[in-house]
Amino acid sequence: MEKIRISGNHKLRLKGKVRISGAKNAVLPAIAAALLTKEKVKLNNVPLVKDVFTILTVMKELGARYTIKKNSLSLQIKKIKSDEASYDLIQAMRASILVLGPLLARYGKSIVALPGGCAIGSRPIDLHIHGLEKLGASIILEHGYINAKAKRLHGAEVEFEKKTVGGTENLIMAASLAQGETVLKNCSLEPEVINLCELLVKMGAKIDGIGQEIIRIKGVKELGGATHDIIPDRIEAGTFLIASALTQGDIKLTHIQPEHLDVVIEKLRYSGAKIEKLKDHSLRVIGSEEIKSQDITTSPYPGFPTDMQAQFIVLMTQASGTSIITETIFDRRFSHINELLRLGAAIEIFGDKAIVKGKTPLSGAETIATDLRASASLVLAGLIANGETVINEIEHLDRGYERLEEKMKSLGASIERIKE
Ligand code: EPZ
Repeated sequence: MEKIRISGNHKLRLKGKVRISGAKNAVLPAIAAALLTKEKVKLNNVPLVKDVFTILTVMKELGARYTIKKNSLSLQIKKIKSDEASYDLIQAMRASILVLGPLLARYGKSIVALPGGCAIGSRPIDLHIHGLEKLGASIILEHGYINAKAKRLHGAEVEFEKKTVGGTENLIMAASLAQGETVLKNCSLEPEVINLCELLVKMGAKIDGIGQEIIRIKGVKELGGATHDIIPDRIEAGTFLIASALTQGDIKLTHIQPEHLDVVIEKLRYSGAKIEKLKDHSLRVIGSEEIKSQDITTSPYPGFPTDMQAQFIVLMTQASGTSIITETIFDRRFSHINELLRLGAAIEIFGDKAIVKGKTPLSGAETIATDLRASASLVLAGLIANGETVINEIEHLDRGYERLEEKMKSLGASIERIKE
């Protein structure tokens, strides 16, 4: 089992430059989109994180062949070998549900295990199912599997009851090969959805309204290959912004798109951090001695991202005053709080709200990671907790961060990965 060991202290000052990796949540749908063509799809700026290898295992089961050179991935599915994405792989990563739409569109059949819940909530996929049924799929849920069939999908009007990133992505991919026009309403506006649409357009898809709540897709008979850059990971970038704000650091983040972080930057500036947008896709963030407390409520893009909630809570433990953190996207995304309490944080949970009292000195302890962003929050807390913090089950962290401990070490943290 691998662990991360940090010897932290409240006097740590992170300094230096860190290159942000490509976005996990952009590369996963982009890989699934390769199912829509028998030609080669080449993706650059791919983060080499666990979730990428998990979805590539699913894709290989479906018939894909791929090569990876540094951070470039080239994959091709000349012929669909199987139409089933197995339970163990879906369990390993819920986002494998993203193969459902493209597989249906290309192959007319798709058997995908129902993704169970996970540490952050129940994670239903009813909106994906209803949308695909509107496009003509007949879907039966039995024995824990989604059994979907469609001779040829046809265009339809689909309005999402609530914003769903994966649902929007699945439907856009399915509609790209459907017969006729599809109108999707109440679409997610996340940059990762836009990055997917830009790839699909390069492949020959006809998509209007990219980046808006209403997207129109005119289905085409077939799609071709393409080469595409994956956008930078705005959540990894946000995690480093908070690391600098937390340690009165002075960090330069490179290879990012600052415009994807506007709300996070605004919140951190309010709390006292100095953030400068530099040219060449970089940001400089200098943490302040005094951290101002503030309330945040997570909401769909362009609101405050739920994927930054756990990290922000750590910052608020060091702010002077009380902060109310409201989580509106997932029904159980506070599992990191129990672990933070063990480090000495003063946090109480009331329903969808976490009340954080600051400023509380943290002390190092043995902890367990429960999900991806919870793990990141434990790393951040460990940096400033006095003494040694050990984080167990860091496979959660490796799902979405590329060598986080090495990047933190290069900024001056004393952090290492240990094998036991
Ligand atoms: C994506 O998950 C991201 N994952 C998540 O990032 C992110 O937190 C989430 O979007 C934000 O909305 C990837 O892109 C791979 P949703 P997704 O469909 O698509 C409910 C991370 O840490 N819902 O937007 O699964 C759902 O339960 C991960 O990188 C339905 O009710 O999320 C949730 O409450 C975590 N029915 C809300 O909508 C459905 O059919 C938003 O979910 C689908 C979703």
